[in-house]
Amino acid sequence: MSATVYLETFGCQMNVADSERAAVRLRAAGFNLGDSPENADVIIFNTCSVRERAAHKVFTRIGEVRRQRLSDEPIVGVIGCVAQLEGATLFDSSPLVNLIAGTRATDRLPQLIGRALDGENRIIDLDERREGEKWDLPATARTSKYVAFVPIIEGCNKFCTYCIVPYSRGREKSRPASEIVAEIKELRDHGYREIHLIGQNVNSYRPHVNSYRPRTEAGLEGFKGATLFCRLLRAVAATEMERIKFTTSFPRDFHPDIVAAIDEYDNLCEWIHLPVQSGSDRVLRMMRRGHTASDYFKRIEAIKNARRRMSITSDIIVGFPGETDADFRDTMKLVEQVAYDGLYIFKYSERPGTPAARLDDNVSREEKTTRFLELEQVQRRLQQTIYERYLGREIKVLIERPSSKSEDDLTGHSTCHKVVNFPAPAAWLGEVARVRVTQAKSNSLYGEILSAP
Ligand code: SAH
Ligand code: SF4
Ligand code: F3S
Repeated sequence: MSATVYLETFGCQMNVADSERAAVRLRAAGFNLGDSPENADVIIFNTCSVRERAAHKVFTRIGEVRRQRLSDEPIVGVIGCVAQLEGATLFDSSPLVNLIAGTRATDRLPQLIGRALDGENRIIDLDERREGEKWDLPATARTSKYVAFVPIIEGCNKFCTYCIVPYSRGREKSRPASEIVAEIKELRDHGYREIHLIGQNVNSYRPHVNSYRPRTEAGLEGFKGATLFCRLLRAVAATEMERIKFTTSFPRDFHPDIVAAIDEYDNLCEWIHLPVQSGSDRVLRMMRRGHTASDYFKRIEAIKNARRRMSITSDIIVGFPGETDADFRDTMKLVEQVAYDGLYIFKYSERPGTPAARLDDNVSREEKTTRFLELEQVQRRLQQTIYERYLGREIKVLIERPSSKSEDDLTGHSTCHKVVNFPAPAAWLGEVARVRVTQAKSNSLYGEILSAP
């Protein structure tokens, strides 16, 4: 009988995409994928290291598994960002940990697990991706049947001073455009309605410089654009995939031609995630973001001048070392000025080995919490106004899954990436429906379906 692997994922969309690829590779190698750690022979945690709390989660989970499985001893593997950063020291964290694989070892996971099952101890692979290891995934093997994540670039070269990602994910590597476009066409032919182009910084897309197969623009011929990412956007839009979203955009590299492309193609969705981190030039400089608040605001203006009204979302860090009350007021001012459709607020968390870790983390825990709550409250008020503008309006929603809140409701996202709930029969899952908004909740819209899909 073949072994059962249970795979649990923390962290960002990159990790979700990696886990999806790992699952496909494991199934292809003859493993079963289990949906609980209880009876699995092998338990794999795909980990995130972006904040201390996220990084700690894997240790809590290993402890829980250990208590659950006192009588037998499953093989536990740690993969992803914590694995890449901590390496072999993880073996000492628990006697159960027997396998460590880094962020670019996904395609080698079946062999690594095979070795562990054969009795080999302390297996570790933190190597780079190898020649011939491709990112492509068959459309039929994905988790969702309607929405697919498509990585276009991995790693990060920005080295924002607070951030661990450039260390856990390594240097930027772009995927050839021809491969991306081919994958999206296949997804389209299999009935997928929406794809997300993903990367830590999609604007840095540069397959001719930092790809696994250098010097190639294959797949972009005939597509214009101010940057290679803009050309890729147009090439992807031309596949006629119904809905196309992309994350994350880095402000400094955000070219207004991205907005022009969205204006040209209706299937490029009207949502942009453009993290700003702070509204204070002083803090932005200490974070080494490479832009000022006013540079950022120019990008926002370009987005706001688009043909369609675009949703804009962002990330903010409060309590960066040395952030004064005046700096924080600048952030509040920027948030008021932009009026985001959504905001992810984080308390600064010191990451060992980053440049900011050498600074004195001198904003007290209480102060971080106070700023967090204050910003959250402002955002809630601004967001309420924005959400209320949708009342009575008609939006197009991809019906993705049953709602967790009510048995009668289904849930999905609008093209502007709002969560929308509505009563509908389960048979409509995977359809795009016209929905009239009847209620604006704090983080979602509620509505009624206007026509059967
Ligand atoms: N590449 C993306 C996302 C990086 S991680 C970007 O540049 O936007 C997602 C978010 O986590 C970041 O935008 C930032 O707001 C937050 N983050 C990253 N490192 C952090 C740290 N050390 N402490 C608190 N928040 C952090
Ligand atoms: Fe981290 Fe900055 Fe890279 Fe984003 S752009 S992953 S915040 S270093
Ligand atoms: Fe976390 Fe790694 Fe993503 S640190 S946010 S899982 S790139």
